[in-house]
Amino acid sequence: MTTSQELNKVEVCFAPCDFHQYEEGFDLIVVIDVLRATSAICTAIEYGVKGIIPVATIEEALEYKRKGYIVAAERNGAIVEGFDIGNSPYTYMKPELKGKTIALTTTNGTKAIRIAEQKKTVVIGSLNNLESLCKWLVIQDQNVLVLASGWKDKFNLEDTICGGAITDMLLQSGHFTSEEDSSVAAKFIYRSARENMFAYLKASSHRRRLRALDLNADVSYCLTPNNLTAIPILKDGILVPLENVAEKLEV
Ligand code: MLT
Repeated sequence: MTTSQELNKVEVCFAPCDFHQYEEGFDLIVVIDVLRATSAICTAIEYGVKGIIPVATIEEALEYKRKGYIVAAERNGAIVEGFDIGNSPYTYMKPELKGKTIALTTTNGTKAIRIAEQKKTVVIGSLNNLESLCKWLVIQDQNVLVLASGWKDKFNLEDTICGGAITDMLLQSGHFTSEEDSSVAAKFIYRSARENMFAYLKASSHRRRLRALDLNADVSYCLTPNNLTAIPILKDGILVPLENVAEKLEV
């Protein structure tokens, strides 16, 4: 564990296009896409889905479909025509998906995961698994970079709130420090939003988009902190439960 002279860093990168500006010195990346990709992935893993293959493009997703995989595809909040399922966390609670490996492509979340995949450790964060994730991050004794998926390479509020929550919890552990203004801003935005995140996000672009698609229930679910404990981790291109991998055993 670190000494007070030797704190680890926790920083927040607001969008995948900025990843190259932040990634140096970070081998542990937490990818977040609160509405809804990473909330759905955490839910899938918690409810017994064996693995999620994050896929960047529709073309690649079609390849998986041809190979016989269950394939989930979302663009702009809606299920893409011709695919089995979309990106609603509730879909991934279905018993028939237990034990299955699913290929998933989403507008932003899976793209961010694929951008981070060059790093040694990539885990998936959300408000749903916030506490268990932060407890695990503290004992890793490593620098942590939170990569927000944003919206089409732009800043978004919901990922910033979650990045701020992770930053706040890690700073409070006493083992971390933050240097970037993005991380400081995320922490303050989280603190002003935490009492009522649903109301805070009322005017946010993706909440409006999902409301128009009648998906308010998904939004409420994704904004519920700590209703899950699973931590998905990327192993050989597949997101699997952390329990299955050596890192957890070494803790
Ligand atoms: C994304 O990857 O952009 C999202 O998860 C969009 C959504 O399905 O709400």
